[in-house]
Amino acid sequence: MSSLSIDGALQVLAPGERGLPHLRGGRTAGLRLQPGSLSCRDGLIAALDDDPAADLRLDATGLALVPGLVDAHTHLPFAGWRDGEYAMRIAGASYEEIARAGGGIASSARALAAAPDEEVLQQAGGLADEMLRLGTTAFECKSGYGLSRAGELRQLGLASVLGRRVRQRTAVTALLAHALPAGFDADGWLDEVEAMLPEVVAGSEARALDLYVESIAFTNDHLERMGGLARRYGLALRAHVEQFATHRSVPVALAAGARSVDHLSCLDPADLPALARADCAAVLLPGAELMGEERAAPGRALLDAGAICVLATDLNPGTAPIASLPLVMGLGVRRYRWTAAEALGAATLNAAWTLGLHEELGSLEPGKRADLVLLDGPIERVPYRLGHDPVVAVAVAGEIVHLRPGAERRLRGG
Ligand code: NIG
Ligand code: FE
Repeated sequence: MSSLSIDGALQVLAPGERGLPHLRGGRTAGLRLQPGSLSCRDGLIAALDDDPAADLRLDATGLALVPGLVDAHTHLPFAGWRDGEYAMRIAGASYEEIARAGGGIASSARALAAAPDEEVLQQAGGLADEMLRLGTTAFECKSGYGLSRAGELRQLGLASVLGRRVRQRTAVTALLAHALPAGFDADGWLDEVEAMLPEVVAGSEARALDLYVESIAFTNDHLERMGGLARRYGLALRAHVEQFATHRSVPVALAAGARSVDHLSCLDPADLPALARADCAAVLLPGAELMGEERAAPGRALLDAGAICVLATDLNPGTAPIASLPLVMGLGVRRYRWTAAEALGAATLNAAWTLGLHEELGSLEPGKRADLVLLDGPIERVPYRLGHDPVVAVAVAGEIVHLRPGAERRLRGG
């Protein structure tokens, strides 16, 4: 099929918002649902208009057509799960206590090292399928469970293979400072990171560096140093910050030119205005908050102050075994007091900008990849019907890759 035309209610950007790289603060209100049609040709959105000659014409009256969802923060590919640790946390153990006792990231690193490539790819591919059916048409992959030079390079390689096997567009991030590898102190590990970067740049698809600032991981000094390395190699800088405690990492990340700061559950209010002005995304992960951090990032205040806000799953076996962006949008609306349109902008265009993919995807604009999601009602119903799967159909590059059973007749006007 080379052309597709869909008639229904479209979640399109208001004219003043078209062509923007991202939506700051209240500009997400520019995402409006209006009756209309959209046509695609050769994998791209051709026009916000009907194409009577299209090979496939769908009648989506009463449904909402939104851009494919973009998950800008996941830890795929990883090996196994850690449900036993979740039970320990429910019983009162902290993430830090479990990590200091050899669990946490270190246990996922052991699982990854022990799993054959094909087993890791099977698990990650299954999760990517699950995400696709829930509307995610692009996602980030990270390393970070390698915890050695060879291990990180292997995980980055597996991320690339995964990216070639799945239907979604992927973007790879090298999370080279996640937990302290055995045999190193933190400074020594950063020396090792610096030494391995030429190989990472030449031998992987990583376009961003990431690190985790926390008492059990790395410090603001390491964040600053990682920023220097990112600049030297022309990579974007991302950082896990202010997750379980306040470390005042945001000013350091901004000075280092970070593309995003992720988590922010314990953001110091004094650091909010500068973040809201910066060309740096505030990536909020309400699923990880719900599963263990208790505190909520100041999502409403960030949006009101004009920040580039993103919602993502943080899909990982420790803090967020969650693959569903519709669920995360519901949690974001509830925890941050956002509108459904604000949550949608945060999980589409702003997420695409974080991954450097905003010129290719993230909004219903001609010339972008025809990654589309048909919802079974208005977008306000997505956060409201928490846990319900609202996805009727998913298209990637103009090709229908998922249809809810029974939906075909209705869409073909039967
Ligand atoms: O984003 N906190 C750091 N990294 C992950 C968790 C990784 C894990 O527990 O395996 C996060 O929450
Ligand atoms: Fe994470």
